[in-house]
Amino acid sequence: MRSTLLSLTILSLNLLAVLSQEDPELPEIPDAPDGDIDIIIDFNTGIVDGIPLPGDLADLNFTTSTSLTIAQILMLNTTAQGGTDLFNSNDLFHPCYKWTLITPILTELFKNNQTQECNDNARAAVRAGFHDAGTWSRKLAARNITQGGADGSLYLFDEAKTRAENRGLETITEILGQLARQYQLSVADMFQFAAAHATVTCPLGPRMRTFVGRPEATSASPDGLLPSSNDDANTQIELFRDKGIGQLDLVALVGAHSVSKQRHVDESRPNTSQDSTPGVWDTEFYGNTLNSDSEPLSSNMTTFPSDKALSQHPSLVKEWNGYVARQNDWVEHFSRAYLRLSLVGVQNIQKMVECTNALPLHRSTFP
Ligand SMILES: *[C@@H]1O[C@H](CO)[C@@H](O)[C@H](O)[C@H]1NC(C)=O
Ligand SMILES: *[C@@H]1O[C@H](CO)[C@@H](O)[C@H](O)[C@H]1NC(C)=O
Ligand SMILES: *[C@@H]1O[C@H](CO)[C@@H](O)[C@H](O)[C@H]1NC(C)=O
Ligand SMILES: *[C@@H]1O[C@H](CO)[C@@H](O)[C@H](O)[C@H]1NC(C)=O
Ligand SMILES: *[C@@H]1O[C@H](CO)[C@@H](O)[C@H](O)[C@H]1NC(C)=O
Ligand SMILES: *[C@@H]1O[C@H](CO)[C@@H](O)[C@H](O)[C@H]1NC(C)=O
Repeated sequence: MRSTLLSLTILSLNLLAVLSQEDPELPEIPDAPDGDIDIIIDFNTGIVDGIPLPGDLADLNFTTSTSLTIAQILMLNTTAQGGTDLFNSNDLFHPCYKWTLITPILTELFKNNQTQECNDNARAAVRAGFHDAGTWSRKLAARNITQGGADGSLYLFDEAKTRAENRGLETITEILGQLARQYQLSVADMFQFAAAHATVTCPLGPRMRTFVGRPEATSASPDGLLPSSNDDANTQIELFRDKGIGQLDLVALVGAHSVSKQRHVDESRPNTSQDSTPGVWDTEFYGNTLNSDSEPLSSNMTTFPSDKALSQHPSLVKEWNGYVARQNDWVEHFSRAYLRLSLVGVQNIQKMVECTNALPLHRSTFP
């Protein structure tokens, strides 16, 4: 029932979006809270925005409480953000225990002590989390090419050093890979834990619910599966759909450019950011991208053609506009979409464990 109503709404809203693009005289597209519009959820099949639940959750046979929790987050039954609990156990063999030892190390690495913002290592860690996970394809998996996904291959198979799309990730990959080895933790988990840690280390960044238990890669991932900063919107949508990530999740995920800077997209303008406040996990990026034609960009910013294209896609324009002034909606949706990304290619989700409470606490105000 709910899904039928929502699909009717989506049609009329998309029409509005198209119309308002063509005619600037039309009224503003109304703001709508995330979760109430556009996202179509079928609780009987677990299909959200046209995409089934990931990996071994797809058949809806939840044999553990964690797998049920993950399914509930992905189907919007429960929040994708942790609260204020801190890990508090003397059990050295608890799967989260060692992650509490990693946390102060990452905080030292990711936080600028003077400004209290997140730094270049944090940006790199967020990007590394995307690049490690993003290398898996449903089409290839259907042909029994199941390698890739969130498996640590960025480090384990030297992909950070050998693939052009990973330029700039060499140093963070080495640091995180060696840290995982030193503490005998899964390298695959390390990249995803570090991305979550970097996110919450940025002021206003969500404390995303974070799970561990990913197996490590036993071979390199397929090449050529990561997006390019010149891709048009449909190319990006198809690429992410093939990873099990819907188009609305994609709009939320590219918001990570809130804290990014580029060196290789426009090499003549190194270290220019995609957001006017690249040390803070805010929604400036969405507005900055929309305005990148009409206002002269500050000399320290560069908007990626791929982001501009998404912001103008008729099916996505309402969601994009909606995030400009909606921090809370965006971070919740980002956290949910990132959980999905962090599980790309993982086939033992049933056996994972939640370690959100090993992460630092969210900072809700800044400065
Ligand atoms: C669900 O998974 C469990 C454990 O893998 C298995 O024993 C059980 O038969 C499955 N149930 C269904 C209905 O597939
Ligand atoms: C999720 O919520 C919907 C109603 O919003 C309910 O029908 C469904 O049973 C819930 N599913 C789970 C797994 O909690
Ligand atoms: C940053 O601050 C923390 C806590 O105050 C301190 O332990 C650490 O040594 C500082 N790091 C640097 C590089 O100054
Ligand atoms: C799929 O690949 C695995 C090894 O990667 C192999 O053992 C298996 O036989 C293959 N299955 C099919 C159907 O080709
Ligand atoms: C860009 O940032 C990198 C990494 O922080 C730094 O090493 C480099 O010197 C910076 N380049 C410029 C031109 O500011
Ligand atoms: C970008 O430049 C403007 C002035 O041109 C300055 O106010 C702002 O702080 C700079 N931002 C960053 C992130 O360097």
